[in-house]
Amino acid sequence: MDQQEWTRVVEAATRAPSIHNTQPWRFTASGDRLAVRTDPGRALQALDPSGRQRVVSCGVAVEFAVVALAAAGHDTAVEELPDPADPDLLAVLTVTGGRTPDDADRALADAIGARHTERAPFLPQAVPAEVVDRLQATAGGFRVWVKRISGEDEEVTTTFLLSRAEEVEQREPEYLAELQRWMRTDPAAPDGIPVGAVPGEDPATRPSNWLVRDFVVGSRTGERPRDLDPDAPPPDVERPTVLLLGTDGDDRQAWLTAGRALGRVLLEVTAAGLAASPLTQALDWPATRAQLRSRLSLVGHPQMLMRLGYPSGDRSPSTNRRPVAEVLTFGG
Ligand SMILES: Cc1cc2nc3c(=O)[nH]c(=O)nc-3n(C[C@H](O)[C@H](O)[C@H](O)COP(=O)(O)O)c2cc1C
Repeated sequence: MDQQEWTRVVEAATRAPSIHNTQPWRFTASGDRLAVRTDPGRALQALDPSGRQRVVSCGVAVEFAVVALAAAGHDTAVEELPDPADPDLLAVLTVTGGRTPDDADRALADAIGARHTERAPFLPQAVPAEVVDRLQATAGGFRVWVKRISGEDEEVTTTFLLSRAEEVEQREPEYLAELQRWMRTDPAAPDGIPVGAVPGEDPATRPSNWLVRDFVVGSRTGERPRDLDPDAPPPDVERPTVLLLGTDGDDRQAWLTAGRALGRVLLEVTAAGLAASPLTQALDWPATRAQLRSRLSLVGHPQMLMRLGYPSGDRSPSTNRRPVAEVLTFGG
């Protein structure tokens, strides 16, 4: 593998979603190997003190690299957490041979560029059960389970914990200051969340029972769209499919494999014409995360909660990434 080839692979890997678009990763390529490290300098101390969501984000990047390599005609072996003395070294990918990419390889690789977090309400069109079955099988290959939140009890429990977590977060000055630090008004900013990618209205007023994270607390007009036109017909209430991904364990290894499974799931979602957006507030806080676990009687630990559906025509803009040269070095 030459430098140009690795640059293309890392370009694809860095299209991974990451918590607050922190892009908490670094790559070193040498010969046929690519080392993926997490960058603790880009940690979110208030929202993610354990680094769980940072490692999940890097896990997605690892899987995007595997998918990009497959589409470029390379088989890969992934060694996870190869050095116990160096826990920030999350994975080493080794190209083990050549392959002839098939249509499925190419479709997944194409989805890397097309995927983005879609926070706008989805169309009122159900996600086919076969798609969910397929995602479950894909994640199962990583020993990651996918639970569909279904039935009124589970929905009420989960939406209640989401709004409770959101309330706690909005009272936490350190959380708010950190969020503020990662919001970007300059659309050309290479990291962080552009204001254009998040809903400007109060998420609590959206015609949905699923509360997306409120990224612009305190900078809204307070007007509710319905208040402006009281005669407007009531909007369709969004009823997205909501999936919870989880693992038996809850250590770095589990977070990394959860991220890898999430990466592949998100690409399959995109290739199927669907879109997703994480709803991780309830998992940010140990108390709401533990309550979710006990009230849904989960065996294991929730790692990612996300809504899934068919995107409407007006897609939110893509977010930027830092230049590859900033995150990729070449070893000897
Ligand atoms: C572990 C993790 C947790 C996330 N949590 C949320 C969330 O709670 N709410 C949300 O709207 N987006 C969430 N996101 C999405 C990121 O904000 C998004 O990936 C990032 O801004 C880059 O944008 P993109 O996914 O459109 O490329 C999360 C992403 C990851 C990987």
